[in-house]
Parts: sequence; structure tokens; C-alpha cells
Amino acid sequence: MNTKELEQTLVLIKPDALKNSLTGYVLSQLAEFHSGLRFAGTKVVCVSKMLAEEHYAEHRGKIFYPSLIEYIRGRLHYPDEPQKQRVIAIVYQGPRAVAKVREIAGPTNPHNARDERPGCIRSLGTVVPLMDEKGKTIGERMDNLIHASATPEEAEHEIKLWFKPIDIPPYMRPFPVQQNDEIHFYYKDGKIYETHAPGSTCVLAPGDIMWESDLTALELISKGKKAADSLETIVAKYLINQTPES
Ligand code: RTP
Ligand code: MG
Repeated sequence: MNTKELEQTLVLIKPDALKNSLTGYVLSQLAEFHSGLRFAGTKVVCVSKMLAEEHYAEHRGKIFYPSLIEYIRGRLHYPDEPQKQRVIAIVYQGPRAVAKVREIAGPTNPHNARDERPGCIRSLGTVVPLMDEKGKTIGERMDNLIHASATPEEAEHEIKLWFKPIDIPPYMRPFPVQQNDEIHFYYKDGKIYETHAPGSTCVLAPGDIMWESDLTALELISKGKKAADSLETIVAKYLINQTPES
């Protein structure tokens, strides 16, 4: 298969879409008949703080960031129903996958989406004012129903953030994988260990398949060296759906 056929992108069906029963609508807008794209992987994810913060790292420090983190974790749309706090993560694959999904999603701001691309997915979203304690408007949050990777580079980062290689069938995997031959990696409180520490979680055992770039980074980090990715970027996916706070 040629590599253009293999281009992949990450889509998240966000909690506002789930709450409004728009999952079927989003899936039909993105269906192969319209988009030429196929599912390569899909999962239901209870979004941990770590995963949310890594996913939206570029917005850290912005006025809307705390609200954005709460939003993607489903805590705003389902404040009293933790069992419903989840997103649906999907990897789509096919020619121009990144650009195609962005076109169908439409502009980030639902107001602009309605003006510029009526009928796009995000034209059904909403903009929520953010207030300080005195009730003064200090910014806004955009509840825009879906996330879509913006560039092929962002797609690679995001797919590796949300998906392990074994979540994607072998012939659909877009990035090199490697088998971990010898080392155990355990994670606890922001640190990685090669032997079990009480309360730690095993993220990788000998024989496991992982993204080659993750293995390279983990080996560097465990030796105290600097790697291309943060430890949290690598381990977040191994902790998905283990416990709500993992
Ligand atoms: P996304 O990542 O969700 O597909 O959206 P995007 O590329 O179109 O926009 P991005 O700049 O990556 O922003 C990510 C999400 O943050 C919220 N946002 N709010 N209040 C604001 O100015 C603002 N800017 C961004 C939106 O929920 C957006 O989807
Ligand atoms: Mg974005």
C-alpha cells in the first residue's frame, strides 16, 4: 500500500457530542462514502488529568485552559455521573486524512463555523463565556463536538499519545514499532523504574510491542537523559482506563 493511503489522523468525539447523542451523526459525516477514510483504531476513554494535559499542552497557561481540561474530561457535561465521563477516540486512515477531517469538522469556533461553513460538524457546537468570581467575562470556551489533528506531525504525536500499537491492526500501523526485548518499565508519581516499586504500574514488559520512538525515549529517560518526548506523553496511554485518576 502506498504511504498516502496510510495517512492517519486522530478524532475525538468530545463529551458535548456524546451528551447530545451526536455520535452517530459525526460517524456518518466521516463515513468512508463521504470521506474516503477508514477506521484504523477506536476506543472509549475515561480521560485522566495526565492525558488531558498532555493532549492540550500547547494551551497551558491560557485563560481557558482549566476549563478546556475539565471539558475534555467530561466533568462539565456530566458533573455527577462519572460513569459517563468519557470520549470516543478514533484513528482514521486514508488519502489526505488530516485535511479531509478538518474540512468536515470546520472552524474551531462554532460561531465562525456557522458563518463560514454552515453544515459542518462544528456549526452544531456552542461557545460558553468564562467568568471570574465577580461574574466578569474573562474568556470563552468552545464546545465544538470533535477534535481533529491539525497537521500530519500533530497526528503522529496525538495517535501515539492515545493509542498503543496493539490498538491498531498490524497492516494499518502508520509508524515503526519495536518489541521490547528485555526491560520492565514501571511508572509511579512522575518517575520511571526498571524494577517494581510499591504502588507503581507496569507500563511495559519484555515481549511487548511499542512505538519505536517511545522505546527510544523511555530508555533515555530511565538513564536520566533528556528525550524528545516527556515521560507523561509516553506513559499516559498505558494508564488509559486503569483508574479514573491514573
Ligand atoms: P482541536 O484541537 O480540538 O481539533 O481544535 P483546533 O485545532 O481547531 O483548535 P486548537 O487551537 O488546537 O484548540 C483546541 C481546543 O481548545 C479550545 N479553544 N478555545 N477560547 C479560545 O480562544 C480557544 N481556543 C481554542 C477549543 O475547544 C479547541 O477545540
Ligand atoms: Mg488543535
